[in-house]
Amino acid sequence: MDADLSLDFLRVVEQAAIACAHTMGQGDGHRSDQAAVETMRQEMDSVPIDGTIVIGEGERDEAPMLYIGEKVGLANKGANGRPYPAVDIAVDPLEGTNLCATGAPNALAVLAAAEKGGLLHAPDLYMEKLIVGPSSKDAVDLDAPVKYNLWAIAKSLGRRVEDLVVIVLERPRHADLIAEIRATGARIRLIGDGDLSAGIAAAVVGSGVHAVMGTGGAPEGVLTAAAMKCLNGEIFARLVIRKPEDEERCKAMGIKDLKKVYRANDLAPGEQIIFAATGVTDGALMKGVRFFGDGTRTTSLIMQTNPHRIRFIDSIQVASDKYPKIRF
Ligand code: FBP
Repeated sequence: MDADLSLDFLRVVEQAAIACAHTMGQGDGHRSDQAAVETMRQEMDSVPIDGTIVIGEGERDEAPMLYIGEKVGLANKGANGRPYPAVDIAVDPLEGTNLCATGAPNALAVLAAAEKGGLLHAPDLYMEKLIVGPSSKDAVDLDAPVKYNLWAIAKSLGRRVEDLVVIVLERPRHADLIAEIRATGARIRLIGDGDLSAGIAAAVVGSGVHAVMGTGGAPEGVLTAAAMKCLNGEIFARLVIRKPEDEERCKAMGIKDLKKVYRANDLAPGEQIIFAATGVTDGALMKGVRFFGDGTRTTSLIMQTNPHRIRFIDSIQVASDKYPKIRF
C-alpha cells in the first residue's frame, strides 16, 4: 500500500457524513444509516485500490452493501487492468445511528484501512473494553479491579482519582461497573451511544476524557484499535461469548483463543494503517456537518501510521458557482 490513499478515504467519510447529516434529528435511524451506507459504498469505488471489506454491515445475506467480503475500489470496476494495492477495510458508515437520528453529539462516519491482513476479522459480537491514552497504557490491565486501574490511570496522569473522567455506555449491563467507578470517587460521563469517539477522546490529551470502560461492539473495537495505533493510545479488549453460536462464529472466523485479551496491535496488526472519520453531529474533536446554502462544511480526522501523521481537516464543499460566500 505505497500510494497515499488518505485523501481518497477522506472523501469517502466526508460524503457519507454529509449524506446522513441531512437526516439529523428526523428520528429515523434506518434512513440515516441507509444514507451513509449507500453514499460510502458509492464513493468507495472511486478509490484506487483492490479493496475488501473485512468489517462492515454484516454478512452478505443480511446486508446489501458493504458486507463482509465485498470487493470495493477501482480495481473492481474493471479499470484498465491496472495493478491497485490490495487493501482491507473496516467501515462504520454511521457510528451512532441513534445519535444522528436524535441530533445528539458524537455521531461519526468512519473507516480504517490497512494492507491485506492488517485488521482483525472480528465477529459482530460484544467486546469488553478498556481504552486509555499514551500515559496510562502500560499501567492498566483488563483483569485488574476497576479501582486499581483508576488509581493507576490517576497516578500516570499526575492527578487524583476524583479528577478523572471515565466514559461508560449507559446500559443496564454496566450497573456494577458504574457502581465500582462511583465508589472510587472518579467522575463518569454516561453516553447513549458511540464508544468509538469516546475511545479517540481518551487518547487525546486535553479532551477531558481519561478512560473508556465497559462492553461495546467488537467492530467498533477494531476501528478503535486502528485509531489507537495512530494516537499511541491503547485498547484492551476481550470478546464476550454468550451462547454456543457465538463460539461457532468465532471459530468460523479463525479465532481459536476465545478468552484472549487483545491489544491495539492484535486488533489492527497492520503497519500501514489509515483511519478516517468525519463528524456527523458535533463532538469533542470534530464539529458536525454544517449546511450553509452556498455549501457544506465538514471537519474530519485523518490519521496514518506510515508516514505517522495526524490531520484535522476542515473542508468546504462549494455548492453554488455564483459568488459563494465563504466565512472563516
Ligand atoms: P451503531 O453505530 O450501530 O448505532 O452503534 C453504536 C454503539 O453505541 C457503539 O458505539 C457501541 O460499541 C455499540 O453501539 C454498543 O452496542 P449496544 O447498543 O447494543 O449496547
